[in-house]
Amino acid sequence: MKFFLDSTNIAEISKAVDSGLVDGVTTNPTLIAKSGRDTISIISEIAQIVNGDISAEIFANDYGNILKEAEILYNISEKIVLKLPLTQDGLRACKFFSSQGKKTNVTLCFSPAQALLAAKVGATYISPFIGRLDDIGEDGIQLIYNIKDIYNNYDFKTKILAASIRSTDHVIESALAGSDYITLPFKILNELYHHDLTDKGLEIFNKDAASVKPLI
Ligand code: E4P
Repeated sequence: MKFFLDSTNIAEISKAVDSGLVDGVTTNPTLIAKSGRDTISIISEIAQIVNGDISAEIFANDYGNILKEAEILYNISEKIVLKLPLTQDGLRACKFFSSQGKKTNVTLCFSPAQALLAAKVGATYISPFIGRLDDIGEDGIQLIYNIKDIYNNYDFKTKILAASIRSTDHVIESALAGSDYITLPFKILNELYHHDLTDKGLEIFNKDAASVKPLI
């Protein structure tokens, strides 16, 4: 399973890259607003730090303006994956860019039917929003299982990118469901390291190590 970091925070992204666990970054208009930075400048800086795909989302909703914004975003770096909403205009643009061999990430996916449409227009990634489905009392993880089955039935090449992740349980459940990728908030990435027995075990090993001749 590949990991993307869901962030526009440069300090977080740098730390996550240093961990060796991160295969790319996803952003969205909310995260761009949170950075307090201009879109082009923040995405360009991320592209300098990260060796992998960087999802940059268009702001426009209509086909004509999506194409105009896409040109600006794709020009930032070869690492850019254009993030498009799951709308008629978004999917039309997805078809256009996938036929040109450009990478796309179809976002705001909440149903298997929507995921099927994204695969049919050749999306590189489909982003099902697990946490937001759970928030309204639905089963976000079940959506991953359903998309996986549909994509396997037809051998679609679109990769499943589990998004809107709220907990380490979401990470494990997405992995069990066979999600190809997951995009993680920095906090969740760090929580994945933790186990009480690791902390307790290390405390004991540190104490015992202090009683023997040091290695360095
Ligand atoms: C990533 O592609 C999504 O934009 C993000 O995971 C959404 O997460 P949220 O539901 O916590 O805003």
